[in-house]
Amino acid sequence: MSKTIVIGSDHAAYKLKEIVANHLRERGFTLIDVGTNSPESCNYPVFAHRACEKVLSGEADLGILICGTGIGMSMAANKHHGIRAACCSDTFSARLTRLHNDANVLCFGERVIGQGLACDLADVFVDTPFEGGKHAMRIAMFEEIEAGTFEA
Ligand code: RB5
Repeated sequence: MSKTIVIGSDHAAYKLKEIVANHLRERGFTLIDVGTNSPESCNYPVFAHRACEKVLSGEADLGILICGTGIGMSMAANKHHGIRAACCSDTFSARLTRLHNDANVLCFGERVIGQGLACDLADVFVDTPFEGGKHAMRIAMFEEIEAGTFEA
């Protein structure tokens, strides 16, 4: 079955969101678009939250969040327990954050990268599996940190 991807942006990136969403739809993915859908100024944490809820509930397998830089979206997303958001501007990082960090949300910035690279980042992210093994043990440490039970 094809993966479901949730995608969201703020006003700074809604056009790039459409381009990336259409690209992934054309590849056969199911897209959930949580907005925004206009240039009207809005608050990126709203869309980060809507998208993270879809990932955490299992409605979406992975998320993509785009703002001006990708940084605000990644900060907001990483406030959610169980979300591992990575802000990437290169395909090497987008691949490695799936392989090693089991990132479940990819963020990038419309004011930072071009449309072609945005689609490449999305492709690499959704196509790369988590490697598991020793990396899974490290991800488990994230969960202990979030729970306040981690001892270093
Ligand atoms: C909006 O102007 C901008 O601050 C936002 O898109 C994002 O870049 C924040 O991190």
